[in-house]
Amino acid sequence: MGRIRVLPDQVANQIAAGEVVDRPASVAKELLENALDAGATRIRLEVEAGGRKLIRISDDGHGMNRDDALLAFERHATSKLRTADDLLSISTLGFRGEALPSIASVARVSMETSTGDEAAGTRLEIAGGKILHVEDAPGPRGTTISVADLFFNTPARRKFLRAESTELAHVTALVTHYALAHPEKHFELVSASHTLVAALPVARPAERIYQIFGKDTLAQLLPVAAEMPLDRPGLPEPPPWKRDPAEPARVPGTIRLSGFYSKPELQKLNRNSIYIFVNKRLIRDRLMLHAISEAYRNIIPPTSYPVALLFLEMPPEEVDVNVHPAKTEVRFRQQSLIHDFVRDSLRNALIKSRPAEGFLNALEKAPAASPTLMPSAVSPLPGAPEAVPPEPEIPPAGPNETFELTPMPIPAYPGRLPFENATAATDLLRSALSNTIERAVQFPNQSGVEGCSPDLSTLQQSMALETAEVEAQQAEATLNHLGALRPMGQLRDSFILAAGTDGLWIIDQHVAHERVLFEKILRNRRVEQVQRQQLLMPLLVELKPWQMVVFAQISQELERNGFEVEPFGPQTLAVKAAPVGLGGESLERMLTEVIEQASAESNEPKSNEDLTALRLRIAASIACHSAIKVNTPLDPAQMEWLLSELARTEHPTSCPHGRPIALLYSWKDIQRAFHRI
Ligand SMILES: Nc1ncnc2c1ncn2[C@@H]1O[C@H](COP(=O)(O)OP(=O)(O)OP(=O)(O)O)[C@@H](O)[C@H]1O
Ligand SMILES: [Mg+2]
Repeated sequence: MGRIRVLPDQVANQIAAGEVVDRPASVAKELLENALDAGATRIRLEVEAGGRKLIRISDDGHGMNRDDALLAFERHATSKLRTADDLLSISTLGFRGEALPSIASVARVSMETSTGDEAAGTRLEIAGGKILHVEDAPGPRGTTISVADLFFNTPARRKFLRAESTELAHVTALVTHYALAHPEKHFELVSASHTLVAALPVARPAERIYQIFGKDTLAQLLPVAAEMPLDRPGLPEPPPWKRDPAEPARVPGTIRLSGFYSKPELQKLNRNSIYIFVNKRLIRDRLMLHAISEAYRNIIPPTSYPVALLFLEMPPEEVDVNVHPAKTEVRFRQQSLIHDFVRDSLRNALIKSRPAEGFLNALEKAPAASPTLMPSAVSPLPGAPEAVPPEPEIPPAGPNETFELTPMPIPAYPGRLPFENATAATDLLRSALSNTIERAVQFPNQSGVEGCSPDLSTLQQSMALETAEVEAQQAEATLNHLGALRPMGQLRDSFILAAGTDGLWIIDQHVAHERVLFEKILRNRRVEQVQRQQLLMPLLVELKPWQMVVFAQISQELERNGFEVEPFGPQTLAVKAAPVGLGGESLERMLTEVIEQASAESNEPKSNEDLTALRLRIAASIACHSAIKVNTPLDPAQMEWLLSELARTEHPTSCPHGRPIALLYSWKDIQRAFHRI
């Protein structure tokens, strides 16, 4: 007997389910897309236990008659595709005829559907791929599908599901994405009688953004609209012998881009706020992400990401959607053309919208690297009082150059003071100074300015630093120096210049204070002596729906750090108390930053390691946002206080994010520069 067997349908469906259905959100995605394909204008989702127990979706689309309702659960049964040629120009979201049978093979499904023009509708029940029950069920036009007990018959897959709150966050994100793509439709998401999304139909995409993200986000976004006629169609003409003379020749279509992008001031730590839709399908696409980064190149730091909601419309022939089982990736037939179109349209829009006044001023003031401390650049003329070098001339900005702010790559610093070697020391000093000052001046309102780049990897590096013996020795060596420093003044109200026996020290006041606060916060938290202050008025912070879910995951740790925060309506938090020293805008920024970082991880912190990382991150973020800012004048007493506090920290050489705090221009280097040795 041969070895090969054809798999039973149920097994084949479960295999397909492995590709299409991996968590409640992917079930929700398939069902939502079916509702949209059915022309629904009102879609309501209810979930229980993050969708693990139940996902129910009701739509007012065209519904199905009895035969179609039964066929819908057959493998490869679809109303959206007839011939292989149709695959070349798909204008519906679904086309594989696989979603419903896949879902029905791994859950208990029931469906009620009615076309509205027949006497009776249909109700069916299916579990583990078997039809259990079919009956008449009169009802209005539309379809309701309930998916209960996901993976009830595949325990191995059930094990991979995350905490309910995590799954709920994914479902919420998904619904909001589709709601953004279809402002004219009504979307609702309800979980345990809690409304997470309620988006009534609106006329314009901007109004939908307002509904979903709130007014603050909308205020930071700018619209983009562009179109480009194509020179040629993406699909080549079929060869003459295959050409149907009745069929008109292919005509090149037009690509349109519309949507919103963020001003340079709004920067995110990850790509989670970039949404790309192609013909109203939400996709992940590296090519598009690249085009967006290119558009923002030199406008925001390479480690930051913008917010973008981009809708690309093009003839269906221009895009192959049949490249990924979950249909989340596509292939453009004219890839580089579309990449360049998106990059250039966005970049032009960015340039046209021109930076805000303050931004331009900052640019004009942005200093170049100060060469005074460079031995080679020091004026060789003895006696010439060249204490202040002439300000470098800033070339007039051409239309395309307005935004070319940070052409210099930010060097990776070692988190200590390797100034043994004179050349390395001066190079490091020069680039560190110029970069820090440039960043500081260019992004005065960004947390990044202050030297906080709190992504987990740097924090982890910082954690490693904290334990490294070598580093401890290094810190000890510098500790003595810092204690004995005599502050002389500030450079641009941002860096403290201090004289020490070993040379000239330059201390970044923000990161120095950040280090002091970071250690204090961790210490106080350990002994449960966090100092909190009641706010006179609760501060209201608007969050995105899925961020509310993330907030619930980390609220306990926030509380232990001195926060008293309560949900205030479906998308708003009310902060009633906060750690001492944190208020107003910095408080809001700190909270959203921590929530954003936590949502980037997308899993609930469970292990001790996760919790430690979360604790460190929260401490680092509080420290960063309450520390003295750059561009702040300090009097001598304040400088002295800061230096002595810094000298008392365990790790005075690097900030919680691993950046250096102090740079030394050694006595030896100074003497050498003046040709005294
Ligand atoms: N909510 C709905 N309203 C009306 N018809 C529906 C609905 N959901 C599914 N159908 C019908 O059932 C068919 C099968 O749905 P299914 O999701 O399995 O496949 P598909 O959407 O055609 O392709 P894909 O597997 O890519 O999603 C659809 O082609 C459609 O005709
Ligand atoms: Mg489908």
